Amino acid sequence: MNAEAKLPPIPKDSKIKQALGLGIGIWDYMEANQKKFGDTFTLTLPGQGPMVWSCNQALIKDVLRLKESQYDASLVQLPVDIGENNTVFLNEKQHQDARKLIIPSFNAKRLKDRAHVMHEIITRHVDGFRPGQEHNIPRLVGDMTLDVICFTLLNLTEGERKDRYKDLMLSWLLESCSDTMFTIGAMVGARGFRKFLHKRYRKQAAAGKMGNGKKGILPWKRAVDLKVQLAEMLREDIRAIRERNNEDEVHVLSVLARTKDADGRYLDEERIIAEATGLLIAGHETSAATSAWFFIWLQKNPRVVKKIRDEVEACIQEEGRYDAIKVSELPYLTACLNESQRLTPSAVGFIRWLREDTKLGDHYLPAGTAVLPNVYLTHRDPAIYGDDVLEYRPERWQEGKKYGPSEFLPFGGGARACVGMNQGRQQLKLIVAEFCRRVVWKTEFDDPNGPLPRSRMIGGQTEPEKGVMARVVSVAPYEVEAQSSAA
Ligand code: HEM
Repeated sequence: MNAEAKLPPIPKDSKIKQALGLGIGIWDYMEANQKKFGDTFTLTLPGQGPMVWSCNQALIKDVLRLKESQYDASLVQLPVDIGENNTVFLNEKQHQDARKLIIPSFNAKRLKDRAHVMHEIITRHVDGFRPGQEHNIPRLVGDMTLDVICFTLLNLTEGERKDRYKDLMLSWLLESCSDTMFTIGAMVGARGFRKFLHKRYRKQAAAGKMGNGKKGILPWKRAVDLKVQLAEMLREDIRAIRERNNEDEVHVLSVLARTKDADGRYLDEERIIAEATGLLIAGHETSAATSAWFFIWLQKNPRVVKKIRDEVEACIQEEGRYDAIKVSELPYLTACLNESQRLTPSAVGFIRWLREDTKLGDHYLPAGTAVLPNVYLTHRDPAIYGDDVLEYRPERWQEGKKYGPSEFLPFGGGARACVGMNQGRQQLKLIVAEFCRRVVWKTEFDDPNGPLPRSRMIGGQTEPEKGVMARVVSVAPYEVEAQSSAA
């Protein structure tokens, strides 16, 4: 370490207390530390190197400009086995090549092609709602997004195979991202833990042992069994896709399965399984957590719900039908999602592990430090968002001011920014549009002046501590045809 490199202030709290501060009520803990130390401070958790959190604009801009050679993504503390050759853990050229593989599956054209099926999936769920039913919103949205991923990844919308996939995906996600697994990961080191899980998975898969999955006693054994079963289905599909070799197929698994390297060889099956399971992890809890906060803001603001409803209805009348692409691009709806992600981002920060002593803003940080742009505090900075920064006011996004990549970053940024951002946003907007148009809900968060619930970490994402229990008061029929013919 260079003599000049040094860490920003560290709270006197014990390491355990700091870890607890991040686990439950992370937003309060961030605000408390900001009050004591200003915009940049260091947390030191058990078994980990120092983590520098900052909402300083100069520092964040420098983080977004970092070259990939300056940090090491393989150190990311994710205790889930998605294979070490997953995009999330790769560095430099390998990482860039991996992104090139996935990004085309989420480009604007593909998203437009998917919008109508996404809307059909959502409609099927809403059609099933009955007055008096209770739903936990993040779990409900998680369920909807799993249907979307079955379509995006596998081109499956119904049938036995889809049901089996969905059941395995959900069970594997719940086991892998449980509090128990994340606590074990934190205690023994996330990287070592996921390597241990991967080794067991490879051994079991090679021996053809499917295990008893959900019924096992040990949580890591259940997670490994479920991954073995899920991977087996993916392997069968990869082989069938290669057999068919149909260039018209555009679902993600088919694109990956038919990709060849520079020497004309197909990608290794395990590599494809890694990307497929990685997309599940990356897209599931993030969308569920984002939807939970978005839903609370809407319940608190009936005038916003009405404005969204009016905007969607006007779009239907104008088009003479429900056009899912047009709906997912509506400006007020988009502003409402932005405003929710601004005040309550599901990812409080995103991480870069520095390989070398590095100057970021006014700080010279030592090698081995993890630096995290503090998304939550940045989004609540009055210097960026004005004096009404704490108010949920979607209109601010329609007043002509543009917020830069260092000012609004719920999807991270720079060379590792979220690959699924547009898909994630599209599906959330379509879900909320349909909720606002057709469903009246009742929750404990309906008081406009009531406090937000405390946050807690689930699978690395910030969610309302006890979820969002919502009762269906009424649900209107689909009724698009009748309105459009009247128009
Ligand atoms: C509202 C939903 C979502 C949120 C809030 C979210 C947020 C994030 C964040 C904060 C990162 C880290 C970026 C960084 O380090 O700079 C990330 C990375 C990533 N996300 Fe998302 N995400 C969402 C949905 C999705 C979906 C639906 C997919 C795909 C199906 C996806 C795929 C990925 C991938 C593959 C990465 C790793 C990119 C890389 O390392 O190069 N995400 N996401």
